Amino acid sequence: MYSKKVIEHFSHPRNQGRIKNADGVGMVGNPVCGDLMKIYIQVQKNIIKGIKFETLGCAAAIATSSMITQLAKNKPLEEAEKITRGDVAESLEGLPPLKMHCSNLASDALRKAIADYRSKKIRKK
Ligand code: FES
Repeated sequence: MYSKKVIEHFSHPRNQGRIKNADGVGMVGNPVCGDLMKIYIQVQKNIIKGIKFETLGCAAAIATSSMITQLAKNKPLEEAEKITRGDVAESLEGLPPLKMHCSNLASDALRKAIADYRSKKIRKK
């Protein structure tokens, strides 16, 4: 039921772990399945230079976390926050319809991490 790419990212997740003293952290949970995803970002000159994730969830949640870190790395914040769940699913060569909500977690967590970074920056001013 999963594409080869999903299985590959689930078996060998990229950028898994946490960033100590991250510039922004975003956490989202899915109340229906109980899965949790946390994304950490490091930002330099408006570019996402470091990104890692911690996910407690299904294979699709782990694969989408892994994929979104690859899609967002080295992107300006404005571009990274435009990554949609459709982009994540497409880069994984598709997700079963029942698993599309899992890719929501990834894009929402990234947007939250960016929002967290921006609010911290404003507070520092
Ligand atoms: Fe919950 Fe995939 S089943 S995120």
